[in-house]
Amino acid sequence: MKTRKVGVIGLGHVGAHVAYSLAVQGIADELVLVDMKEQKLASEVQDLRDAAAYLPHRVSVNPGDFADLGDCDVIVNSVGKIELLETHDRLTEMDFTIAAVRGYVDKIKASGFDGVLINITNPCDIVTRELAMGLGLPKGRVFGTGTGLDTSRLLSALNRQTGIDHKSITAYMLGEHGALQFAPWSCVSFRGMPLDELAKTDEKFRFDRDALQKESIGGGWVTYAGKQCTEYGICTTAARMVHIVLHDEKAIMPASMELDGEYGETGLFAGVPCLIGKNGVEQIIELPLTDEEKAKFHDCCEGIRKNMEHLKDI
Ligand code: 2OP
Repeated sequence: MKTRKVGVIGLGHVGAHVAYSLAVQGIADELVLVDMKEQKLASEVQDLRDAAAYLPHRVSVNPGDFADLGDCDVIVNSVGKIELLETHDRLTEMDFTIAAVRGYVDKIKASGFDGVLINITNPCDIVTRELAMGLGLPKGRVFGTGTGLDTSRLLSALNRQTGIDHKSITAYMLGEHGALQFAPWSCVSFRGMPLDELAKTDEKFRFDRDALQKESIGGGWVTYAGKQCTEYGICTTAARMVHIVLHDEKAIMPASMELDGEYGETGLFAGVPCLIGKNGVEQIIELPLTDEEKAKFHDCCEGIRKNMEHLKDI
């Protein structure tokens, strides 16, 4: 029987929590952890191995180098310099993260890696594109957590507002995993019952939509303010995506994916609903956005393109 092997690159708060989630939830049978800080790597491996005896699922944890990632089914990329987030702008990390990723993407390729890579590293949409171009894998095999995380924040806000369970709500944050993202309210439904219909008759569905959108965009900074990192939300988002891929779930979840004409955009990665399975993103779902929402999505893409111009100077 084949074991499910997952590599995690970068063991800061985020990467370490991704590894822990994959172990605790029994998503991976084998974890290969990679970090350029030797002692940090040894410490995280030790700590996870110390947990293994009492975990509900068997997992083996090993330190590795890029060359050891070749036979991974999935790799999660999570390098970063979290202290750069002090500016409350994920773009600040770009000079560091793009250079870092460019420094090792060829090593992942040289390992013979032929699986699915999920990128967390910020600015997520731009770094995901960089990794996809560097690895040259079939389309869809490299995608980012993107607005998958922000959508979880929106679902949480909607749950608190309406009392309805997150999993019974369909809602998305779209566009940039950053300040430019937005919620297309016309597509929000509660198990098929559109929000706009419910709002006609029930007070609790007539909430301040802008406030909820703002809460979803700003959630990361609330978390960062008191603990100087974000970890549970992002690691759970990434772990969910790994699970979808390894079980070929064909689940629909927002992710950062290359647009090739979808939503009228081309040549960039942005957060859109994706059908995810064993091949990564197997299809982009085009929501029936209103004209106003289409314009917002376009503005988002223009913003991402503008930010991509900075790549020339790195
Ligand atoms: C987050 O949204 C900071 O991108 C990170 O949690």
